Amino acid sequence: MPPTRIGVTAAAGAYSVLIGDNIIDTLGREMDDAGLGPRRILVSSPGVWDLHGQRFRTAGADRTAVLVADGERAKNLRTVSRVHDALVKANADRSTVVIAVGGGVIGDLVGFAAATYLRGIRVVHVPTTLLAQVDSAIGGKTGVNHSLGKNLIGSFHAPSLVVADPTVLGTLPRREFRSGLYEVIKYGVIAAPSLLDRVRTTLPAIFDREPEAVSPLVAESCRIKARVVSADEREGGLRRILNFGHTIGHALEAATKYKRFRHGEAIGYGMLAALSLGVARGVTPDSLYDEIHNLVTHLGRLPPVSDISANEALAAIGRDKKVVAGTLHFVAATKRGGTTTLTNVTPTDLKAAMRELGLKA
Ligand SMILES: NC(=O)c1ccc[n+]([C@@H]2O[C@H](COP(=O)([O-])OP(=O)(O)OC[C@H]3O[C@@H](n4cnc5c(N)ncnc54)[C@H](O)[C@@H]3O)[C@@H](O)[C@H]2O)c1
Ligand SMILES: [Zn+2]
Repeated sequence: MPPTRIGVTAAAGAYSVLIGDNIIDTLGREMDDAGLGPRRILVSSPGVWDLHGQRFRTAGADRTAVLVADGERAKNLRTVSRVHDALVKANADRSTVVIAVGGGVIGDLVGFAAATYLRGIRVVHVPTTLLAQVDSAIGGKTGVNHSLGKNLIGSFHAPSLVVADPTVLGTLPRREFRSGLYEVIKYGVIAAPSLLDRVRTTLPAIFDREPEAVSPLVAESCRIKARVVSADEREGGLRRILNFGHTIGHALEAATKYKRFRHGEAIGYGMLAALSLGVARGVTPDSLYDEIHNLVTHLGRLPPVSDISANEALAAIGRDKKVVAGTLHFVAATKRGGTTTLTNVTPTDLKAAMRELGLKA
C-alpha cells in the first residue's frame, strides 16, 4: 500500500503528513524527496530508541541519536538545552534538519529546541505514540512546561515533514495506546461520524494493533487535524473545535498535578462533561451523550475522580490558556460531527457537569 499523503498549509510553508505501515524504513528517501538534507540529527528518548532505533539506519543520519529523557517531568527548558548542547557540539547549521522520534513530549520539546536554535531550523516529526500521530505532531505547536504550569513556554514552529508509521504502535503500552484513542473519538465527535462507527465496530482489532484497523484511524484523524490547522493555524477560531473535551479535561489534569491521568484519559472525562453540559444547555442531543458514554466506557476503566473537588477544577479552568480576555470559549457538540462554541457558559454550568462526572462539591 502506498503511504497516505496529507497536505498541511502553514504560514511558514506547506508540509506533508505521510502515513504508512513501515514507512520509517523509507524515511531517508522521503526526506530526500522533500529536499530535507543532507545534514540530519535524530533526537529521541532512550526507551523509544531501544525499541525502534535500528529502523532509522536509512534516515541519512549517522545511525546514532541524541537521547534525552521523555515523560512530562522531563518536558522542561533543561531538557531543551540538552538538545541545544548536542546541536552546538554537532556544529548544526541552518541547513541541518532535526528529526524528532518519540511521543508528544519529545515532539513538543525537540520542536521547541529546533524553533529556537539559530532562530529556527527545520524539524521532521516521527511520532511514535498514537496521541502524537493523530494530534501533537501536526499543527506546529511546540513547547515545554514551566514549574507553575503546563506548556507555558513555547512557540509555533511548523514541521517540514511528518512521518507516521502505525507499526511502531505495536510496542506502546495499552494504557498509552488507549490514551490516543480518546483523541480519535474526539475527532469523530467534532467532524467525522464514520470514525465513531469505525472505532465501535473494530475495537478488538484496534486493540490488537492490527495495521488494517489502526492505519485508517490514524489517517482519518490526521486528515481532520490537518484540515483544521490549515484553515486556522493560530487558533483564532476554527482550531478551537480541537479543544472539545479539553476545558474540563485540562482542569482534571491540573487538579491532580498531571500525575493521575494520561492526557487522553482526562479528555475522555472532559468529553463526557462537555456532552452533559451541552445536553443541559439544550444544544447536544441525549443520544450523542449516550453513544459517547458507551464508547468511552467500552474502552476501559478511567482513573477515579471522586476525590477531586469541583471547586478546585473550576479554579484551574480560570487559569486555562483557552480563556481569552476573560471569556471562556466552550466547545459543545450539536450532533455527530458537529460543534458550536458557547461563550456564556457559567461556573454553575461547569460545576454541574463536573458533579455529574462524580467530582465532589
Ligand atoms: N503540540 C501539540 O499540538 C500537542 C497536542 C496534544 C498533546 N501534546 C503534548 O503531548 C504530550 C503527550 O504525548 P504522549 O501521550 O505521546 O506522551 P509521551 O511523549 O510522554 O509518551 C508516552 C510514553 O510512551 C513511550 N513511548 C513512545 N513511543 C513508544 C513506542 N512506540 N513504544 C513504546 N513506548 C513508547 C514514551 O517513552 C513515554 O514513556 C503532552 O506533553 C502534551 O502536552 C501536544
Ligand atoms: Zn488533547
